[in-house]
Amino acid sequence: MSARKAFVASLLLASAVLCGVHPGNTRRSDYLSTCQAIANAISSASEVYYPLSIQYTADNAHWAASSSAASACSVEPGTPADVGKIIKGGGHASNPGFSSTAGVQIAMTRFSTVTNNAASKTVDVGAGLIWDDVYKALDGSGVNIVGGRVPGVGVAGFTLGGGYSWKSNQYGLTIDNIVAYELVLPSGTVTTVTEANTDLWFALRGIVTKFTLKSYPQTEVWGGAIIYSGLNADQVNAATAKFSAQVTDKKAGILPTNDVELAAVLVVVLVFYDGPTPPAGIFDDLLAIPPVSNSAKTQSFYSFLTSLPSTNPLAGPRALFSSVSVLQYTESLLKVIYNETLFWAAWLTLLDTSPFVSYDVEPFNPAFLSYGSGSAYPASRAQPLLPTNLYFSWTLPELDQQIHDALVQSTNTIRAAAVAEGQDVAGATIYVNYALYDTPLEGIYGGNVARLQAIRKSVDPNGVMGLAGGFKF
Ligand SMILES: *[C@@H]1O[C@H](CO)[C@@H](O)[C@H](O)[C@H]1NC(C)=O
Repeated sequence: MSARKAFVASLLLASAVLCGVHPGNTRRSDYLSTCQAIANAISSASEVYYPLSIQYTADNAHWAASSSAASACSVEPGTPADVGKIIKGGGHASNPGFSSTAGVQIAMTRFSTVTNNAASKTVDVGAGLIWDDVYKALDGSGVNIVGGRVPGVGVAGFTLGGGYSWKSNQYGLTIDNIVAYELVLPSGTVTTVTEANTDLWFALRGIVTKFTLKSYPQTEVWGGAIIYSGLNADQVNAATAKFSAQVTDKKAGILPTNDVELAAVLVVVLVFYDGPTPPAGIFDDLLAIPPVSNSAKTQSFYSFLTSLPSTNPLAGPRALFSSVSVLQYTESLLKVIYNETLFWAAWLTLLDTSPFVSYDVEPFNPAFLSYGSGSAYPASRAQPLLPTNLYFSWTLPELDQQIHDALVQSTNTIRAAAVAEGQDVAGATIYVNYALYDTPLEGIYGGNVARLQAIRKSVDPNGVMGLAGGFKF
């Protein structure tokens, strides 16, 4: 995931924690009375903010980039009980159906505590944090948890979606490492969910205020970003294919991305080894290709994470993701993906004023889904599906539909190429956090959709969570 992509990922993932309560056919004055009712109900740990305040602007900043709607007010709950009061307050004002105008924006930024529980080998993580903050808090503690791979990614959306980590080869997805989480139910009740709460554990959705995750010993790591010119793309693709097929050391990981911006083509490969020095052989092919720059070195995990390319302030205001799942990154498939990058970048460059096109491939060890069970995602753990991430960003709103259609076409091309190689991925499910917005639920949760809908009906009979961001059941 590239610099800009990490930023957009944090925007998209924020939708899981920022709940826009926006009833249809409701006038602004009605929203304001809802804001007032919430202000009266919450404790002094929480606060409601209105337009023009600094906090309101910060709370709405995520949405401003991808949506034209601004909320009537924002609220920053400081306790799980207050989250419950806000859900109830907003829920009371709701009608079936919802529009694109946001009513009340709930910002979870006050849930920002990281607690290292050495005795139980767990860490409590507030749901309003980004992973950078979590790693910073654990820096020097000798332990770490299974979290995000690049700077700027929000904890809650990442985790509820599944969570692919630098440590997934060793310990599975981030959801596979949850011991418990504190959840505010649509009824407003605060509850702690563990594996014993079968249905809620399986569904793993809703407004979470705190996650408790398993911790593991952490030494210094080796890693960084190696940036190559597109002229070396064939060599990088060959090295990536070899890494994916042959490297069995579960401490090793790579995240290669093709980026095109202002007609410059770069291949950025993030490299990681969960130890101070990678054994000889693992990264040799990549390191033999002449780079434009290479920041890989021995350092703390936090230093590694924050050294990776971060938020690009020039990012185009509009952005979409799409994804294909494959079983193997062969050299021929990587060539198709590289050609797709160049083809669609050239197309978008003719149409838009700030085109950016990026495709990444995410190889993992074939056993990486064997560390967990009983979750709605991944739909099946029998097939170790590897995500790709297609990302276009642009400026002109009139291109929205064309870019959506281009992403569908490119996604289909890559999937067809994998199928033509004999990979059984024609109907493969995709990673929710990379899914295009109109992906059918079955395309993400496969055969688990019916059970998720049944759980939704029993836990949330009035459809309150339908007012929040994210995919709806
Ligand atoms: C590159 O991709 C485009 C769009 O999918 C396709 O039309 C073209 O044939 C591809 N070129 C090669 C060399 O594969």
